[in-house]
Amino acid sequence: NNQRSGSRGALIVLEGLDRSGKTSQSCRLLSYLEGLGHPVESWRFPDRNTGVGQMISAYLANKSQLDDHAIHLLFSANRWEKRSLMESKLRSGTTLIVDRYSFSGVAFSSAKGLDFEWCKAPEMGLLAPDLVLYLEIPPEKAAERGGYGGERYEQLELQKKVARSYQMLYDASWKAIDASLPIEDVEKQLREMVLDCVTTCQKGKALSNLWS
Ligand code: TYD
Repeated sequence: NNQRSGSRGALIVLEGLDRSGKTSQSCRLLSYLEGLGHPVESWRFPDRNTGVGQMISAYLANKSQLDDHAIHLLFSANRWEKRSLMESKLRSGTTLIVDRYSFSGVAFSSAKGLDFEWCKAPEMGLLAPDLVLYLEIPPEKAAERGGYGGERYEQLELQKKVARSYQMLYDASWKAIDASLPIEDVEKQLREMVLDCVTTCQKGKALSNLWS
């Protein structure tokens, strides 16, 4: 279904600090859209299933050491290796709910001290999301939620810097949601925003590239 010319899926990205609730919300959005009969898939970055993804996973688990620039480029390569599949899914009418994307790439690497513009460069030409849902939570509150799994970036001081970097990325395609609200309240707000976006894309909104 949904292969009418001009009708395409929406590229919807969830961003936020670690423990902001992105993963539970992307599951909920997936079920919601499925329930409405929309073709939809849930994706995440890093995609740990590819060769590049396994290198990233080892790095995050502190099992390998890499130069900050090198790991930045691996995160980016991990998105590039999925770009053509992403485009064909969207063009065939499937909406993608993506847990983290280029904005995580820039926010985390620049929080570590890399130049902001340098961090954006390898992301240029990836597909631009139709909607970025930013689950906004004070870093202290995210840390209190517990369950920082001990991965490399799950430390309060770094997360505070990541929050500041995210602010610098904010643009017209972003919507911020107060992620310290109860999970159902957040879900309700997200549902509305997502449905709106899916409808706009079905009507034929053009796909575009990031930062180019
Ligand atoms: P993620 O798999 O979402 O974390 P979790 O396993 O806790 O659900 O992301 C792992 C970490 O990688 C997270 O701290 C954010 C970071 N990250 C980057 O530094 N650059 C990137 O491009 C991406 C996608 C994630």
